[in-house]
Amino acid sequence: MADDRRESMMDLQEIEPSPVDETPSSSKDGYFGGDKDSEYPAQAKRTSALGLGGHTSIWYLSRIQKYSSYVFTAFAGAHIANTSIIPLITRSVPESERYLLLTRPYYQGLPAEPLLVIAPLWAHVISGVALRIVRRNLNAKRYGAAANVKASFFSSDFWPKVSGVSKLGFQFMPLLIGHIFINRAIPNQFPGGQSNVNLSYVSHAFAKHPVISYAGFTALLAVGVSHMTWGWAKWLGYTPDQTTETGTGRQLGKKRRWYIINGIAIALTGLWMAGGFGVIGRGGEAPGYVGRMYNEMYQQIPLVGRWM
Ligand code: HEM
Repeated sequence: MADDRRESMMDLQEIEPSPVDETPSSSKDGYFGGDKDSEYPAQAKRTSALGLGGHTSIWYLSRIQKYSSYVFTAFAGAHIANTSIIPLITRSVPESERYLLLTRPYYQGLPAEPLLVIAPLWAHVISGVALRIVRRNLNAKRYGAAANVKASFFSSDFWPKVSGVSKLGFQFMPLLIGHIFINRAIPNQFPGGQSNVNLSYVSHAFAKHPVISYAGFTALLAVGVSHMTWGWAKWLGYTPDQTTETGTGRQLGKKRRWYIINGIAIALTGLWMAGGFGVIGRGGEAPGYVGRMYNEMYQQIPLVGRWM
């Protein structure tokens, strides 16, 4: 009997319960299905612990996850310009350096950095994980109660499926943290701080440690650009799963979307690599005192630093 209940609960779990993981075809033009919490009428006016007008926590968390990503998009735009497009135009690392220094005050230091980089980054990741927990608990309450099963929080039952975009997001996280650590945290521990570091710091790494530099940046760019491109496709309702076509054209439509999104991701990754590898990557070692300081900085990297 208990087994029967458990089995039927597992069947129920197969159903995609989330209003955001899959856009219902009826809400194509309003990704979150309008502002009425129509998917969760029972909770719609319940979870307003802060007294913020009676939306569900899913409503708030989804918006935090979405709007925080707008900030990175602006940052990523400035960053691809500085580290790829401008180097491609100038064909010179020292020439491109000037533009990097020009835009730096907009995203480094106080108050720009906590506001534009640190807070949105944490907000995006934490709201994503929190959404997962809220949805899991909601599933447990609904389907668990229906099947009279109480699963432990740590069992795999009831957890929402991890989408491809989320998988890329989780892979991107350690790569991005590593990138920030090498380019921001390490230089800050040296006299002169960030002012010591610019594009020639990266050129130096490519010249002295080509294998690890090419491998590291390839992973960072491919995963990061794919996550952002697929993420945007999802916000705009263009992922294959969000196809509204029905009938025989549906599979073809889904396939077309898959190729277009990956095509855009590959083109953007290629553009970033063209300037990043083709110009900055070939800038050569920094000479003299600066080069020695860069060596010391790279030696601070945990695990691999001792071989640098
Ligand atoms: C243009 C910028 C970005 C966009 C458009 C974007 C978009 C998205 C979207 C749509 C999701 C939800 C996936 C889903 O529900 O299936 C997501 C999740 C996620 N993103 Fe991003 N993202 C961006 C930047 C970042 C950055 C910079 C990081 C940090 C490394 C990041 C890390 C994550 C993680 C870890 C998740 C998974 C959360 C979870 O499912 O529990 N994203 N992102």
